[in-house]
Amino acid sequence: MRRVQVQVEAAIAGNLPPAEAIPARLHRAMRYASLNGGKRIRPLLVYAAGELTAAPAERLQVVASAVELIHSYSLVHDDLPSMDNDVLRRGRPTCHVEFDEATALLVGDSLQALAFELLARKDFGEPGRQLEMLRLLARASGSCGMAGGQSIDLEAVGKSLNQPELELMHALKTGALIRAAVLLGALCGAALSVDESTSLDRFAKRAGLLFQVVDDILDCTASTATLGKTAGKDAAAEKPTYVSLMGLERAREFADDLRKQALEALTPFGARRQRLLELTDFITQRKF
Ligand code: IPE
Ligand code: IPE
Ligand code: MG
Ligand code: MG
Ligand code: MG
Repeated sequence: MRRVQVQVEAAIAGNLPPAEAIPARLHRAMRYASLNGGKRIRPLLVYAAGELTAAPAERLQVVASAVELIHSYSLVHDDLPSMDNDVLRRGRPTCHVEFDEATALLVGDSLQALAFELLARKDFGEPGRQLEMLRLLARASGSCGMAGGQSIDLEAVGKSLNQPELELMHALKTGALIRAAVLLGALCGAALSVDESTSLDRFAKRAGLLFQVVDDILDCTASTATLGKTAGKDAAAEKPTYVSLMGLERAREFADDLRKQALEALTPFGARRQRLLELTDFITQRKF
């Protein structure tokens, strides 16, 4: 994990404009929002899925950076006063607090654009495959993916969703990008069979939902100091979550069911699935 985290940190740092490049305030804020923090779970999933298809490390690094830039942008916008109105992220003031709201909007815009610029680079490999990957990341980020899920999240404030509605919201706002990380990692290497692709997609969807169910649980069980973001925000903001829907104990059981389903889906991959198994356990047991 440490090796991937260090590589991705260096790759993102190297691809962001220098902090002093004009417009320096925006570039400083972009670096602030995407460096020195975060568990880098999505990059870890990219690399782990790449092990299924013997993917080359250089390609995985590009894809991992692109996905993490989209994720970092989504956090900057998620924290804005007009969205979750959070002041703490990754143990530091949120981007709009450290800089200002307009800069935070532009940081999101710019990190998103940079992600696609990276993925569209020359000499990445077979152009047809590259286009497929660009399309996959775009779809996972937009109104039928992360941004769409965020829209449902905002509309759901103060309401109680039923389980299918909540599952859709979570699958989009968080699941879509996690799923994309897994599929993109695998797409960096040799082609999978149709059956293997179906199994991997099932894994990716279960792992994505699992990630947000655990995020809901941590929001009401962990401390602000441990999380590096304000604890108890979901209840305070009247957000429907798996904990508000089914209570803490059943939410934990549900997370464990999702973990089992995710692990089961990996069976066809034999020994190549080891890192994904470990990451699934990390996602389930993580403390922040
Ligand atoms: C937090 O994601 C936001 C969600 C999608 C639940 P992470 O828990 O991966 O945040 P970082 O990147 O480690 O800070
Ligand atoms: C965020 O979900 C999902 C995103 C697309 C960023 P949350 O609003 O629960 O994430 P945190 O808890 O603020 O990290
Ligand atoms: Mg949110
Ligand atoms: Mg939030
Ligand atoms: Mg949360």
